[in-house]
Amino acid sequence: MSASFYVTTPIYYVNDEPHIGHAYTTVLADTLARFHRLFGDSTRFLTGTDEHGQKVQQAAEKRGIEPQQHCDEMVERFRAAWRRLEISQDDFIRTTEERHQRVVRRILTDLHAKGEIYTQRYEGLYCVPDERFWTPKDVVEGKCPLCGREVTSISEENYFFRMGNYQEWLIEHISSHPEFIQPESRRNEVLGFLKKPLGDLCISRPASRLRWGIPLPFDPGFVTYVWFDALINYLSAVDGLQSPGGPWWPATLHLIGKDILTTHSVYWSTMLRAAGLPLPRTILAHGWWLVGETKMGKSLGNAVKPLDLLEVYGADAFRYFLMRDMVVGQDSEWSEEALIGRINADLANDLGNCLNRVERMIQNYAGAKVPAVSGMEPVDQEIVVLAETAVRTAVTAVREVRLHQAIEETFQLVRAVNKYLEVKAPWKAVKQEGQPGVATTLAVSAEALRLAAVLLSPVMPRKCGEVLHRLGVLDQPDALVTRGFEAGTGGIWTDDLLRWGGLPPGTPLRPAGPLFPRIETT
Ligand code: MSP
Repeated sequence: MSASFYVTTPIYYVNDEPHIGHAYTTVLADTLARFHRLFGDSTRFLTGTDEHGQKVQQAAEKRGIEPQQHCDEMVERFRAAWRRLEISQDDFIRTTEERHQRVVRRILTDLHAKGEIYTQRYEGLYCVPDERFWTPKDVVEGKCPLCGREVTSISEENYFFRMGNYQEWLIEHISSHPEFIQPESRRNEVLGFLKKPLGDLCISRPASRLRWGIPLPFDPGFVTYVWFDALINYLSAVDGLQSPGGPWWPATLHLIGKDILTTHSVYWSTMLRAAGLPLPRTILAHGWWLVGETKMGKSLGNAVKPLDLLEVYGADAFRYFLMRDMVVGQDSEWSEEALIGRINADLANDLGNCLNRVERMIQNYAGAKVPAVSGMEPVDQEIVVLAETAVRTAVTAVREVRLHQAIEETFQLVRAVNKYLEVKAPWKAVKQEGQPGVATTLAVSAEALRLAAVLLSPVMPRKCGEVLHRLGVLDQPDALVTRGFEAGTGGIWTDDLLRWGGLPPGTPLRPAGPLFPRIETT
């Protein structure tokens, strides 16, 4: 059954240098989008950059250039990083684009007209790097509870959104929609947060203090608070306001890190509600990549630059590690040794060797063409059953965003094929009278490998394309890099890609060298 799938990443602060945290969410969204295209779902994948706010204004001032020019230059680092990681986004939104600002203005005008926005003098403590107000109760020894940096005391007139009015409604919505906030621990966290009275949200900054933002349409003396502006990207990119019941709104899945859960589950939900728009189906908060006990990120100075690692290990191995090693929702320890361990054990040993053995034997015993099955013993049938189970379980796991599990299911199949080859030992059987079972063994192994490569292609589009090219399925080895398997684009997508029996007998193979050379460590 095909469905519609609209997935988003957070839009990243344009000032930051892309690091592993950004890379993780983006690869996760990309992998999911590629899986859904493979399933035949109509799929849309959005990422982008968050470009307004004080930090950007200050950085541009420091460089002596206009903020817009600063953003235009900085955004290229994200675009380049996503190109290197072979990200297949359908759209890249920048909050400085007119198509976005137009929708922000429309929502502000609408909420103001409905009386959802009002003005009031405000006194509070403000964290410049996080662009958030705090009450004295929130701050820890004069420091921001989020980032630990100094807060400044501020008193000014501002505009407020009546967020507090939606507290009861939000609790009810979260309680009656278990899929809305995931994983469950995060859902409970938000429900816990909503036990305290929910205040109204300050949604403006005086233009005298902050120039670099979207002016309030009803008061040009103020610009919009950066989070109010940023969250709307998910909607403005699909122009949901013009077609609220249209194909792309509400979004299916907002992927975020756990540190931005409140802004998404509370601010964004109530903003949409007040604007009379439907809520996204799921907000999924993933954990952090840690080094030792510390979150990796720019401000902590321990950011591992994905691009540096990409040069060394390649996009596919890097993507594989991110998707295989983190259980979505939990924190994960980053280490280069763990990455190398995965490459050697899973990619070089299990997958690479399997391909190599199958290729070599088909070359030596079957004239380099996929042989026809000639009789199935229970031991052969077992592989068929295993493969069909792997497909079923992996598809369900993907739909429930348990990617590590989908990958693990597929690798169990690969390992089972390696064992099956040991048991059937075609290199011995080939010397016996009539070469019993050799053709079947080779055909079954090659087909299982084809299915494994299709299932892993959203994670490793280049290497799996190569496997499928070598198995004679794809004419071009790089056919999957840009979009993966996708319906309606003509050519490589069929609706039985994930069904047993897709490799016709007689298909000529194109054997080549090791798929993933082992990384030697001394
Ligand atoms: N601009 C806002 C998001 C606005 S969305 C409407 C923002 N940007 S960010 O660039 O600072 O962070 C983006 C994402 O990176 C967050 O989801 C955050 O959780 C994630 N990560 C930053 N460091 C991380 C790790 N070390 N590990 C995993 N993800 C982390 O917030």
